[in-house]
Amino acid sequence: MTKTYYITTPIYYPSAKPHMGHAYSSIIADFFARFKRIDGYEVYFLTGTDEHGLKIQRAAEKEGLDTLKFCDVISKTFLDLSTKLNLTNTDFIRTTEKRHLNSVQNLWNELKKNDDIYLSKYSGWYSVSDEAFYNEDEIEELDGKKISISSKSLVEWVDEESYFFRLSKWQQPLLDLYQKNPNFISPESRRNEVVSFVKSGLKDLSVSRRSFSWGIKVPNDNDHVIYVWLDALTNYISALNYPDKNNDLFKKFWPASVHIIGKDILRFHAVYWPAFLLAAKIDIPKKVYGHGWILSGDEKMSKSKGNILDPLEIIEKYGLDPLRYYLIKEVSFGNDGNISSERLEDCINSDLANNFGNLCQRVTAFAIKNCDGKIPKNIEFINDDLKILNKYKDNIDKLRSEIDKQNINFYIDYIVSSLFEANKYFNDQEPWNKKKDLVRLNTIVYTTFEIVRKICFLMYPIIPSTSLNALKIFNINEKDIDLSSITKNDFLKKGDYINKIDILFKKIEKNND
Ligand code: ME8
Ligand code: MG
Repeated sequence: MTKTYYITTPIYYPSAKPHMGHAYSSIIADFFARFKRIDGYEVYFLTGTDEHGLKIQRAAEKEGLDTLKFCDVISKTFLDLSTKLNLTNTDFIRTTEKRHLNSVQNLWNELKKNDDIYLSKYSGWYSVSDEAFYNEDEIEELDGKKISISSKSLVEWVDEESYFFRLSKWQQPLLDLYQKNPNFISPESRRNEVVSFVKSGLKDLSVSRRSFSWGIKVPNDNDHVIYVWLDALTNYISALNYPDKNNDLFKKFWPASVHIIGKDILRFHAVYWPAFLLAAKIDIPKKVYGHGWILSGDEKMSKSKGNILDPLEIIEKYGLDPLRYYLIKEVSFGNDGNISSERLEDCINSDLANNFGNLCQRVTAFAIKNCDGKIPKNIEFINDDLKILNKYKDNIDKLRSEIDKQNINFYIDYIVSSLFEANKYFNDQEPWNKKKDLVRLNTIVYTTFEIVRKICFLMYPIIPSTSLNALKIFNINEKDIDLSSITKNDFLKKGDYINKIDILFKKIEKNND
């Protein structure tokens, strides 16, 4: 049976066009999806848009547009972004789709049937921007206005009839879950936050609203729409054709391997979502990973602060792969990270152009001149060669297990040091001084080619199109990329012609004023 892997991004609010934060989560998820795919997994990778609720209704009203038309337009910009980012998502779900409506109403019925939902009245604070209810102790006052302490977004008072989910009943089962599956919430710092929140006591959760209509109707009560988070979270199973739990997709891919999210929406994913699933007797996802924030000038990007970085502008100026590489490398995964064009340019110049691009160009040019433009035939590995080649074999299981811990930092450090070592090897071996010892010259070239190939395979999840461009040297196509083959030292066919390639990354001229 093939190994399967199900990864998701949050489904984004189409209240405004996508920004760098959305691009970040999606690129990270794509990195894992591609890594798992070249490691032989069948991968389901889901992204999409979260289109119901007051936040979206008000955004559409502000533009004077019909709500669904408004969603159509903005959701399309997210769909387009997934192409621009070269995402390999299997599916793009919109919560306004029929398959999702059906799924959410079924989940509701399931919760109702199990007596986890009852009718009462909600009086309390609500943030439309976060689509979240807040307790009195989670609110502060700023310039005479009430805001949420954690997100700083404005809250308003809500007083209306509402259905409630018996969240309090699931407090202990949730704590048991966190204890039994210590990696369910990652990274660990986030886990501790959630555990203490749950320990402090869970109140029942309001799961419907009746003062507006933009949402999925509560079955058998047309006056209420389902709370947008209960609606949104369900997307992860709607895409697998829930409520049909016997269909292939659901059987193959549920429970999800990992939900990639930002830390802003951890509570919804690590508390509410597993509670809904426990109540509906559906398996719990294996992991929720809450990454940090991309900061712009030390602050979280947000529309109200006007410090939004536009991924499309960066791609236009520098290209996609530099952006992917930069976000994956420079934002230490799990933590917040500031991004700047200066650091991005440094990355392009030193890592991508100098270390990676140059290595590929140098050895190719050398082989065209000195090895008849072919992969050398007569070779004899010596210790120097085997030492560097075998490192990949020795580290592959470590790489796999670190990736299963979402330790992207380990992975990228491994690549950076491999590039450094590869360049050093080529310099130290001085093939240009071996013209009288052709076996040695050939072996150095062959060894370097094998290293370039291995590094390209490892780089593929990060910078897919550039890796594929580099692999044209050897006529290797996407479908030939197989992670387990980085253990091989004789993957490249001796005597095959190689191809000259175009420059992979152009260096950025920097003015030093
Ligand atoms: O919360 N840095 O949608 P949303 C890093 N619809 N990541 C960021 C970011 C930043 N500055 N800003 C946003 C929602 N993100 C709900 C989700 S899921 C069932 C429903 C990323 O449009 C990050 O992943 O506000 C964050 O969690 C998500 O976008 C929030 O997107
Ligand atoms: Mg948000």
